[in-house]
Amino acid sequence: MKKGRFITMEGVDGSGKTTQLQLTARYLLDCGYEVVTTREPGGTKLAERIRNIVLDADAAVNPRTEILLYLAARAEHVEKVIRPALEAGKVVLCDRFADSTLVYQGFVRGIEMDKVKALCELATDALQPELTILLDAAPEALLQRRADRGVKDRFEQEGLDFQKKVREGFLLLANADPVRVKKVNALQNTEAVQADIQKILKDEGF
Ligand code: TMP
Repeated sequence: MKKGRFITMEGVDGSGKTTQLQLTARYLLDCGYEVVTTREPGGTKLAERIRNIVLDADAAVNPRTEILLYLAARAEHVEKVIRPALEAGKVVLCDRFADSTLVYQGFVRGIEMDKVKALCELATDALQPELTILLDAAPEALLQRRADRGVKDRFEQEGLDFQKKVREGFLLLANADPVRVKKVNALQNTEAVQADIQKILKDEGF
């Protein structure tokens, strides 16, 4: 089996993950890697359908219902997209993965962490990223930046306290596993954030 490399990107809503994922993919392509970019929830036809359901759901949806939807999408995504790409020796760049579940459904919504971890392991068949880039920023500053740009979406709907808790959860994960999870200051301009990411990738042997 050829060995691919699995990288994930995480952060609070509005931290610029999607832009940075695309720039990172272009950089890795230029370095000569075969790259697959994908996202969670999503990445397959069925998982994208689950995405529409779970992201449209009423905010009051039961956390147990919510986690099972995210994980159903993940099981499908890992089996159909991520593992085959890794087995073919590609670099997989994924916008969110199990760390989002630990933070949003565990830390924020309050499902016991042991249960969240066990369910994630079941859904992924124990697949874990070797590197996670955490785009970190204070939600207050992101809110201001988004207001300046006239953006209005889930970030505002969930509220500032929710986003602060999400950030706290991600920082706890990063501090618990600094070898895998690398923090990048997401409040810098796009080029500076990308430069930090490329430095991390070089340090990781890319
Ligand atoms: P995004 O595509 O804009 O990042 O939105 C995905 C949303 O889904 C985001 O608010 C985080 C949330 N989410 C979870 O709550 N649990 C998960 O396991 C994943 C992958 C995402």
